[in-house]
Amino acid sequence: MSERVFVLGAGRAGRGLARALRAVGVEVVGLHGRQRVDAADDISIGTLPPSAGAASVILVTVRDAQLESVLRDLASERLQASAVVLHASGSADPAAMALLRQRGHPAGTFHPLIPLVDPTRAAATLRGAWIGIDGDAEARMRARALAAQLGAKTLEIPAGQKPRYHAAAVLVSNFPAVLLALGERVLAEAGLGPETARHALLPLWLAAVDNVRGATTVATALTGPVVRGDAVTVRANLDALRDDETARTVYRVLSLALLEVVGEDGRVDVRRALDQR
Ligand SMILES: NC(=O)c1ccc[n+]([C@@H]2O[C@H](COP(=O)([O-])OP(=O)(O)OC[C@H]3O[C@@H](n4cnc5c(N)ncnc54)[C@H](OP(=O)(O)O)[C@@H]3O)[C@@H](O)[C@H]2O)c1
Repeated sequence: MSERVFVLGAGRAGRGLARALRAVGVEVVGLHGRQRVDAADDISIGTLPPSAGAASVILVTVRDAQLESVLRDLASERLQASAVVLHASGSADPAAMALLRQRGHPAGTFHPLIPLVDPTRAAATLRGAWIGIDGDAEARMRARALAAQLGAKTLEIPAGQKPRYHAAAVLVSNFPAVLLALGERVLAEAGLGPETARHALLPLWLAAVDNVRGATTVATALTGPVVRGDAVTVRANLDALRDDETARTVYRVLSLALLEVVGEDGRVDVRRALDQR
């Protein structure tokens, strides 16, 4: 079925999805926001335009804090009787979805499990990505079809597990970059300029991620003192970070997590070093 999609929320996700859908030939009948951030995106503002009433899918991409009220307002709009309402939040489970279902609209989640930052790159970013979906059968079927058009795969978020699903997404998408920033800071504390620190650490950071891509398990892709059971170096690293409380805490907590990944066999001394405060 060829959908007519109306995107409500013209931020990074909304603009990216609108562009990506258009790029694969899906008809996007409108992109609605509160500000015309980019003339190229043809964003409507103010009251919802008539094109919303012509859409077969309304894709809501406002922030989680605004989602409930936007969906509630949507439930009182004149939409196509069979229009499906999907929202892009990976964590929210808005009560207003029930209201939309009562009005006859299949409703569910369409959450790109991929960071959408630059709308001009969204089509490429979404190709091969995964999209978390939930909701009633019709909403999930239509979400799967839209995802397939984008070249993305879908995973069904188990009922009641959205908070865990989203926590996993945040762990993976946010924290690797935080580690890079911390590494840069520690090198700066060692007297290297920020630019040198970035240039030197970036290939290391990228290679560490790339090694996981080729490995059967995360454990087999890891190197470093914890993996080698080298407690002397772990102690020296912790000592070197004594003036940077955040970096030291992150090092210690992630090393403990790393022990959970690779197992403690042959690493008892490392465990002891980490347990000493
Ligand atoms: N970006 C991502 O990587 C990504 C990936 C997957 C899922 N998502 C999900 O997508 C949703 C939006 O995230 P985002 O990153 O795109 O946030 P964002 O960049 O802040 O965009 C949200 C947009 O919604 C607009 N908006 C708020 N209330 C509105 C209303 N009543 N009517 C029309 N537009 C309204 C905001 O306008 P103002 O700027 O005027 O407030 C803003 O442009 C979230 O649920 C997020 O979890 C995002």
